[in-house]
Order: sequence, then structure tokens, then C-alpha cells
Amino acid sequence: MGTKKLTIAMNGVTGRMGYRQHLVRSILPLREEGLELPDGTRIEVEPILMGRRPEALEAMAAQHGIERWETDLDKVLADDSVDIYFDAQVTSRRMEALTKAMKAGKHIFTEKPTAETLEQAVELERIRAAAGVNAGVVHDKLYLPGLVKLRRLVEEGFFGRILSMRGEFGYWVFEGDHQPAQRPSWNYRKEDGGGMTVDMFCHWNYVMEGIVGKVEAVTAKTATHIPTRWDEQGNAYDATADDAAYGIFELRTPGGDPVIAQINSSWAVRVFRDELVEFQIDGTHGSAVTGLFNCVAQQRGHTPKPVWNPDLPTTEKFRDQWLDVPANAELPNGFRAQWEEFLADVVNDRPHRYDLLSAARGVQLAENGLKSSAEGRRVEMEELSA
Ligand SMILES: NC(=O)c1ccc[n+]([C@@H]2O[C@H](COP(=O)([O-])OP(=O)(O)OC[C@H]3O[C@@H](n4cnc5c(N)ncnc54)[C@H](O)[C@@H]3O)[C@@H](O)[C@H]2O)c1
Repeated sequence: MGTKKLTIAMNGVTGRMGYRQHLVRSILPLREEGLELPDGTRIEVEPILMGRRPEALEAMAAQHGIERWETDLDKVLADDSVDIYFDAQVTSRRMEALTKAMKAGKHIFTEKPTAETLEQAVELERIRAAAGVNAGVVHDKLYLPGLVKLRRLVEEGFFGRILSMRGEFGYWVFEGDHQPAQRPSWNYRKEDGGGMTVDMFCHWNYVMEGIVGKVEAVTAKTATHIPTRWDEQGNAYDATADDAAYGIFELRTPGGDPVIAQINSSWAVRVFRDELVEFQIDGTHGSAVTGLFNCVAQQRGHTPKPVWNPDLPTTEKFRDQWLDVPANAELPNGFRAQWEEFLADVVNDRPHRYDLLSAARGVQLAENGLKSSAEGRRVEMEELSA
């Protein structure tokens, strides 16, 4: 009981994710409202803004009424009043910063991917265990209303035996010549930690693992559909990373059933879907389709019986045959929901469920996906331990 104050050093807050999702949508409202735990303990948070550009940080601090901003990581980590180090920098800078933070005794909460190689990702867990600190890695998709509903259907046994899962993710990212690109240019440079596989397979790993079952093997084909793009300064550059990844994943449910998942991920596709990502699960007793927010389902008893006849136009309205799955609860922003869970874990001194090893399995899936594509073969996932 009582009040616990946590000071959080937030590095990379001038970036897209750091600013919008973590600072503005999560930590600032939490600073305003506080967080009340079930036992009556109240958590209060105070951010320190961190980055490379003093002017940007100073302006942001003034805009949001935040007292401290810093550019010197070592100085911040030497400060005993700092409890948590948060990292939303570009991926290539993460390993070094997280290592330093844990060795300085700080709990860490971090964006994904945690590292650029599997070896480094596992090494982070070893460092964490030796330092005895808590660690949480962003698994935001599992907190999205649509995926929360999908997981509930799985837990309720709605699907019967799950057979397959499919996912469609992507949208058109402009090349940057006539219209500015809506994603940072480093995303398209392998040498800067970019690439669709590296970016999204770590998400898909925890989505599949958290909803259906662990990934046992991957077969993937990656592509760089758009070879030249234009950067933030308007200069043309070679896209050295993949901008699309087509993956087949072999899963195993906790009950031991095999499930085949297929996920297409592309920044060179135009959207004819209801949402930018959609997943479908088919089972013997029912199926469901979910986006970020909405989820619809169809039971075995409501399943139509189409007959293939290419000579007749389709008159059935297949989309009308699905029923909306209600949330039956207020589901907050996913990033904030995970922050709240992590902060409660820190205060209660218990491990956070989405930890560095789970993140390492995500990095492993990305690495194996790239390997599968490069070598033209199926790659099995080895069990990881620190
Ligand atoms: N959870 C998610 O859904 C999600 C979505 C997008 C990105 N991410 C992850 O978040 C991290 C940040 O991605 P973003 O899209 O916000 O990127 P961004 O380019 O908008 O921001 C990157 C941040 O890192 C800093 N930085 C440090 N060194 C840099 C360098 N050498 N070049 C450029 N920036 C540098 C920038 O100042 C900025 O604050 C990445 O690791 C990415 O994988 C997660």
C-alpha cells in the first residue's frame, strides 16, 4: 500500500513510436492519472526525455511540462533516482543501451526487436538475470482489442480443433520521390537494421505463440519489390532490405495439435481489407477473422455450403454471414495497457510475462525467416534458453 514513484528514462522519444505510443498515449496519461493497483498501492511516474538532439528534447519537454531531458545515457544511468530505462531508439542502437542500463541496475522496458542477432537477444537475457532486474518487451499486438477477442475465442474453445491461421499485413509505403514516404528510410536499409522480416516476424512470433501455439518451423520468401526509395532529405537511395515477406509457419498448440499459419507482410501492397492487419483462424467448430479492433466469427452451425460453379455469378453475401464478437469490456490503448502491467510487475517484484526470451524467440523467427528465404528451405526453430 502507499505510493510508489517510478522515474523512467525514455530514450528515442523523438521517434514515431517513442513519442506517439509510449510518451503521449501511455506515460503522459499515466503521469496525469496515476495507476492504482488492486491492493490499493498507487504508482506515480515521472519521465526523463532522452535522445540525441537537445533542441528537439527541450521543445518537447516544454510542450508537455516535463522537467528533465538528457542526451547523455551514462549520466542518466548513474543517477540512482532513475528506476526504469525505456528504449525506442533505432534497433541498431538498442543492444548497447539495454546492456548498459541493466548493468547499472535499471529495470528495462523496450521496443522490439531487442537486438539485431539472436545471439545478442539471448545475451540480453543472461545480462538481465545476472543483474537481477525486471525486463519487459513491447508485445503490443496482443493487447489490441481485436486480438484480445481472438484469444478469448481460443481460450473458450470456440474453434474446436484449430487447423490453420492466416494473416495479411501491409499497405503501400510511398517511395518518397513525388510523395514523402510515411515510414523512416532506415526501415529499407539492411545495414541500419531495416527490413520487413526483421520488423514484423518478431511481432508475428508472439502473436502466434500468444494466441495459437509455439512456432516450430518456418518457410519464408522475402522480396525487395521497390529497389530505389527517397529519404527524408529527398535523396535517392538503394533499398537494401526486404520490403515484403511471405511466410509459412508450423505451430503446435499447447494441447499438441499441429496448426499451419501463413502470413503475408508487405509495404508494397494496396489495401482491400477492413484493417491494415487481419488474421483468420479456422477450426473444426468455427472460424474468426480479426483486425486491430473488430472481430467477427462464424460457428459450424452457421457455416454456408457453397458449391463451386464457375458458370454462375456469386450471389451469396459471404461477409454478411459472420457475427460480431463484442469486447464486453473497455480495452485501453495496447501500449498503455502493457506499460501498466509492467509497472505493476516492477512494483510487485515479479517477472513480466513478455520477457527478453520471448523477444529472443521473435528475433530467432526473423533470423530463420531470412535464412529460409536465402537458402530456399524450411528452417526449424530450436528451443532457446539463456
Ligand atoms: N511496436 C511496434 O508496433 C513498432 C512499430 C514501429 C517501430 N517499432 C520499433 O520502434 C523502434 C523505433 O522505430 P520508429 O519507427 O519510431 O523509428 P524513428 O526513426 O521514428 O525513431 C527512431 C528514434 O531513434 C533515434 N535514433 C538514434 N540513433 C539514430 C540513428 N542513427 N538514425 C536514426 N534515428 C536514430 C531517433 O532520434 C528517434 O528518436 C524500432 O526499433 C522499431 O523496430 C515498433
